[in-house]
Parts: sequence; C-alpha cells; structure tokens
Amino acid sequence: MNRPFVFINVAMTADGKIDTFQRRGAAISSPRDKERVDQLRADSDAVMVGGRTLLDEDPKLTVKSEARRAERAARGLTPNPVKVGVVSEAKFEPHSKFLHEGGGRVVIFTTPRTSNEQFAFLRSLGVEVFVHEGERVDLRAMMQTLHELGIKRLMVEGGATLNFELIRLGLADELYAYVAPMIFGGDSAPTLAAGSGLERSAAVRLQLLHAESWEDGGVLLQYKIERAA
Ligand SMILES: NC(=O)c1ccc[n+]([C@@H]2O[C@H](COP(=O)([O-])OP(=O)(O)OC[C@H]3O[C@@H](n4cnc5c(N)ncnc54)[C@H](OP(=O)(O)O)[C@@H]3O)[C@@H](O)[C@H]2O)c1
Repeated sequence: MNRPFVFINVAMTADGKIDTFQRRGAAISSPRDKERVDQLRADSDAVMVGGRTLLDEDPKLTVKSEARRAERAARGLTPNPVKVGVVSEAKFEPHSKFLHEGGGRVVIFTTPRTSNEQFAFLRSLGVEVFVHEGERVDLRAMMQTLHELGIKRLMVEGGATLNFELIRLGLADELYAYVAPMIFGGDSAPTLAAGSGLERSAAVRLQLLHAESWEDGGVLLQYKIERAA
C-alpha cells in the first residue's frame, strides 16, 4: 500500500496522560516544546487530528512562526500544511477555527453519519470531503487517498483513540513524545494510546531513536514504531 511517512507527536505527563480527566485540552508542552511542535508542523505536508480533539477543542493547526511560514513559501509551499480531520460524524460550528484559520487546504475523512447540512456547509467552504462507508473512517483507505493527494509526510497530533488505531494498524512510523515533569492521574484522563488495547503478546514494539533531557525538566523521546511482537 502506498501511504505517507506518518509520525505521531504527543505531549504527555510522566504518567502518560495527554489531558486531564476534565478533557479540556490541558497545556502540557513547555515553551521550548511548542517551538519544536511548530517546526515539526512546518516540516510536514499535512497535519491530522481525530474527531474528538477536532470537535471539542477546535485546534487551528497552523504554523505559528511567521519566519517558518515564510521559509515554507520560499520552498514553493503553502504557508501552512494541509489540515486533515478524521471524524465519524462531522459537526463543525460555522466559525470553526480549524476550518477557517490559515487559509489553506482542508481535507475531512468522515462517514455517512455526517448530516447533509454539514456536507453542504463543508463543500461550500471548499473543504475536500471523503466519505467512507461504515461506522468509522477506514484508516488504510485514508492513507492511500492522502498519498494520492501528494501528502508525503504526515504529522498526527492525537488524540488517544486515533493514535492507538494508527499504531495498531501499522500505519504510524515514528512517535515523538515530550514527557513533561508532572502527573495528572485520573482513570478517565486520556493517555498516549487508548482504544480497545492490546494483549501483552500483541504489544507494538518501539525502537528508541533519540532521547534528550531538557532544562525545563522535560524529556523528549523519539521512537521508531515497529510491528506487533
Ligand atoms: N497532549 C497532546 O499531545 C494531545 C494532542 C491531541 C489531543 N489530546 C487530547 O486527546 C483527547 C481526545 O482524544 P480521544 O481519544 O478522545 O479522541 P480523538 O483520538 O481525538 O478522536 C477519535 C475519534 O475520531 C473518530 N474516528 C473516526 N474513524 C476513526 C478510526 N478509524 N479510528 C479512530 N477514531 C476514529 C471517532 O469518533 P466516533 O467515536 O464518533 O466514531 C473517535 O472517537 C482530548 O482530551 C485532547 O485534549 C492531547
């Protein structure tokens, strides 16, 4: 199967949480980590998020630094990477920042659960919409489509359910995790990878490519994601 190079980026606490039990998109990254994330976005062809992150938090997913946007333009690229949303039932607000900020290309993968009104709204904005039959988006077919759209390097920015499914299906190549020096706890607080989970014998193996200890107390980890054991 042809697909982009896919990497997942997360900011997590030392107990593996990527948000608190309140699920309001808690700040975890340090200022230095935010710069690192901005550079990763600027170096990507597209940036992707899952449906709950998309609809609950409405992220802009733009490159924040003007210098990095200019550097992309100098390379003949659009100032911001393509935004990609994976959402079973799209329910965007009229003034969604995800849809409107940055002025670039937006691609949505969804299912027939999305209403006709939403389809009409998205298409009126020029959003490219791909509809997959079934309850959820077919992530393998989605990767093939992204490849056909010219996406070679895809950054995935969560959340927990999308991360897990991509890892489970062997559709993610690398993982960056910034581990912040704090603990959130909470049974219901999302972790790096959620979903149905794997038995120990099926655990996905990681190979550590790089580790850095930062002056802000955080640790940056870069892993290659290998096949299930
Ligand atoms: N710290 C970080 O780096 C970071 C980054 C991003 C997000 N987050 C946090 O992550 C949390 C959200 O994560 P989440 O796990 O609740 O949701 P999510 O991964 O953002 O979104 C998953 C949703 O996408 C839809 N979907 C459609 N097709 C899918 C498929 N094939 N596989 C998986 N999902 C599919 C599903 O909707 P249906 O269930 O309706 O089918 C699913 O609920 C938030 O608390 C957010 O703050 C943290």
